[in-house]
Amino acid sequence: MPIHSSATGWILETRNTGYALGLNPAGLLAHRYWGARLPYISDYPAPFDPIKWSSPDGPHHFVPEEYPGYANTKYIDPCLKVTYADGTRDVVLTYEDFSITISPQPVLDLRFKDSHYPLQLTLHYRIHEEYDLIERWATLENLGDDPILIERAFSAKWTLPPGDNYSLTHLYGRHIDEFHVQRESLTPGLKVIESRRIIPSHRASPWFAVDRIAGEEQGEVWFGTLAWSGNFKITAEATEFASTRISIGLNDWDFAWKLMPHQIFVTPASISGYTKNGLGAASRIFHDYVRNEIIPHGKTPHKILYNSWEATLFDVDEASQSKLAYIAAQMGVELFVMDDGWFHNRNLDNAGLGDWFPDKVKFPNGLGGLITNVNDLGMDFGLWVEPEMVNPDSDLYRAHPDWVIHFPTRARTESRNQLILNMARTDVQNHIIESLDKLLSENNITFIKWDMNRGVSEPGWADAPGDQREIWVRYVQGLYHVWDILRQRHPKVIWQSCASGGGRADFGILKFADQIWTSDNTEATARLNIQEGYSQFLPANTMEAWVTDWDKDLVPLEFRFHVSMCGSLGVGGNLLEWNQSDREAAAKCISLYKEIRHIIQFGDQFRLISSQKNDYSAVQYLSKDKTEGVLFAFRTHIPEPFNIPLIHLRGLDPEALYSIEGVEQTWSGLAWMEAGLKVVLNNLQSKILRIKRI
Ligand code: GLA
Repeated sequence: MPIHSSATGWILETRNTGYALGLNPAGLLAHRYWGARLPYISDYPAPFDPIKWSSPDGPHHFVPEEYPGYANTKYIDPCLKVTYADGTRDVVLTYEDFSITISPQPVLDLRFKDSHYPLQLTLHYRIHEEYDLIERWATLENLGDDPILIERAFSAKWTLPPGDNYSLTHLYGRHIDEFHVQRESLTPGLKVIESRRIIPSHRASPWFAVDRIAGEEQGEVWFGTLAWSGNFKITAEATEFASTRISIGLNDWDFAWKLMPHQIFVTPASISGYTKNGLGAASRIFHDYVRNEIIPHGKTPHKILYNSWEATLFDVDEASQSKLAYIAAQMGVELFVMDDGWFHNRNLDNAGLGDWFPDKVKFPNGLGGLITNVNDLGMDFGLWVEPEMVNPDSDLYRAHPDWVIHFPTRARTESRNQLILNMARTDVQNHIIESLDKLLSENNITFIKWDMNRGVSEPGWADAPGDQREIWVRYVQGLYHVWDILRQRHPKVIWQSCASGGGRADFGILKFADQIWTSDNTEATARLNIQEGYSQFLPANTMEAWVTDWDKDLVPLEFRFHVSMCGSLGVGGNLLEWNQSDREAAAKCISLYKEIRHIIQFGDQFRLISSQKNDYSAVQYLSKDKTEGVLFAFRTHIPEPFNIPLIHLRGLDPEALYSIEGVEQTWSGLAWMEAGLKVVLNNLQSKILRIKRI
């Protein structure tokens, strides 16, 4: 049983980790321990009870509370802040009771009530034993007759073992340059990572890792994420008393939620883990968890797709798409995706969004003809949509100008000539469900690329039933609802989440989408870095990667393919301009990818030499049974003379013998890991070497 309880203390155990919490003598729920699993239950330390404090810092300020409310003399960053109907802004939680449920995974619920007001808080802890992960979220319930205004409700506070000198690793970036890995010391004070755009954004990801001296493959790492596709906030606080804590949850910036009598508010979940084996192991834990537990079609290998966007932009019709489809099929592509430009009046990015039916001029007989052509070539058919958006020049906007997010007294700022439909509204949700359901029911579509190309401005919702600021949360809930209904009605469809590239890449959206469009930047050397950052918390099978023409004069086709083969391979170049030898080279890479994709998409990933830090990089994928692997090595641009670094393989069975393609000797797994190998490359050269256990 992974949950051990007494009247005032709880110990949560996973395969390799232990997490302990309990009520301290003052009745506060204090964090006790998070780290390696200990042999005996009696080993776990008692709840923290401050022995000394000074007048400006009361005892509450010291206690590493699991979920502190803003109250009394606590000046640490709280998880919960509310205003009661009489104006009281102070939440004093007293413990009530606990319960444990077992199925499908064990969950511990701890119930608290405000000592005076009718607010109930339940903290939930779900144990993912085999992944060494703990999932936490909170439920607030208004038990009274007056509304309660919630101003902050985080999902969890994760407390590190006592002390400071921790470093925080997080991801930052921008459009076409996502997922930079940043590691920095946590000095006293508060470091904030957040989004205010209604999507997690390219600027930051809802992911963190904290360590003291960890590297890629060794050292203690505490890591976590938030399963949420909207505004989020991570605060990393190192207190003046050497306590380090990470809070994570909905962003409270411009947020408020009027909790009506007898209603509940449930926060999104935060999932966190601990490993002794470095950032690489932390990533692999999340990769397994996402593939096995989150994405809808986790066990299905992704098809190699062709996407027409960079080839034809908005200029699509049956003839031009069919030509591309014919060449794609010859090369071995399995899924043909028509991107933007196919729907009513869509010739540029200034019109059409909202009207999700085929353009009469480009497709006078609907999409059926093209889909039949594609299917006859042996490929599936997929389509691009951007359902959350309207162009002012669209039938939908003309009919429902009030459906967009706006303030009635302000100009509606357009971005890419578009406005955002208010997904918090049920009429908007129903309209999108019905128009996409029609499209999917009338056409043999097995793949949808769902795009979202702008951040919010003027976040108004004049006729909101509660507080207008609920829009940040209700929008995302509305999006999930729409996607959920469509998935139920069309369970075989594979959905891809795109937000101008990787702007909406998180565990929340992956409950609905099997894939993420990683970045609008398809230049291969830039992609190496973007992909490495992405892999910190998301697995390769969710990472859609196309070979395009962006970099055709700079980077050899094979290199471009090799980079894209590190994820879910796609092709996005203008195939009409590819000569015969390009097409043959592409066909070869595609056929190789078909042989190795099960290792890449479902195996363990090891970042051997970082491309974000080096111009020579290597990444390895290994099947779960350790019998076969693939090594990718890339060299971008390094002046000679250059001493090729040794590549140390990882994860192999130490005693077993392995051969590596193109290398004469057969060595033990341990030798390949300890002695390593050199893969000689020239500038802008890459290699894929297959690893086989003998
Ligand atoms: C966004 C996407 C691209 C493409 C275009 C179409 O930029 O990220 O991949 O689909 O929209 O307009």
